Amino acid sequence: MAEQKEYRIPAHVAIIMDGNGRWAKKRGLPRTAGHAQGAKVVEQILEDADHMGIRYLTVYAFSTENWSRPQTEVKALMNLLRTYMRTALPKCTKNNVRVRVIGDRSKLDDDLQKAIDGLEEATKGNTGIGFQIAINYGARDEMRRAVTALARRAADGTLSPESITEQTISDALDTAGIPDPDLLIRTCGEERLSNFLMWQLSYAELYFTDKAWPDFDRDELVKAVDAYNHRERRYGGLIQ
Ligand code: FPP
Repeated sequence: MAEQKEYRIPAHVAIIMDGNGRWAKKRGLPRTAGHAQGAKVVEQILEDADHMGIRYLTVYAFSTENWSRPQTEVKALMNLLRTYMRTALPKCTKNNVRVRVIGDRSKLDDDLQKAIDGLEEATKGNTGIGFQIAINYGARDEMRRAVTALARRAADGTLSPESITEQTISDALDTAGIPDPDLLIRTCGEERLSNFLMWQLSYAELYFTDKAWPDFDRDELVKAVDAYNHRERRYGGLIQ
């Protein structure tokens, strides 16, 4: 009889939520309506991921490149994030969610930075699912900031260059302390990393679906986890 493999739930799932604009256009709605629906879907998927036993969920909400979009769209996205940061605490408390924002928040409006700091602080003791939201995030910018921080320590003599390991670099990134993603999902037919978690995704399984993000649901998440279960993760070694 063939050996039955154990069903594995990825500990960390990362998502590039693509297709909000196309979803809205198809319905004759403004792009911002797609983002608003997308924000609702994020909250539902966070609960679904938690119920499935996923321990960390990281979503790409706003990239370092997204500033080049029309001002009205940038403003609408920032307002969605602002609303989330200001209203999510009761649900996070109820569901034991720990929120962390990754990316360079120093470029965000002061009140949004304050709201982010407040939600992170209020949820930092929670022990359930870790919810990372990438805002003004770019992997190259994250690595640049990490290199600057390490170089500063080397220059002031608190870090010897020869002692730098891969772990030193992981610990200098915004995701310090969070295990690397096991599975990356990107929606709406695009098959690119788009400057998302490039260090952390080195060994992740990649899953692409044609569904637009506002149509993504629990069944789609289950499909992605099923596909993950059909992959043979080898980390450069041989199949056992
Ligand atoms: C990509 O679709 C989506 C974004 C750039 C924004 C994603 C942000 C959210 C869903 C809101 C997040 C909210 C919370 C609370 C975390 P697109 O606009 O590039 O779509 P298109 O490719 O069809 O134009």
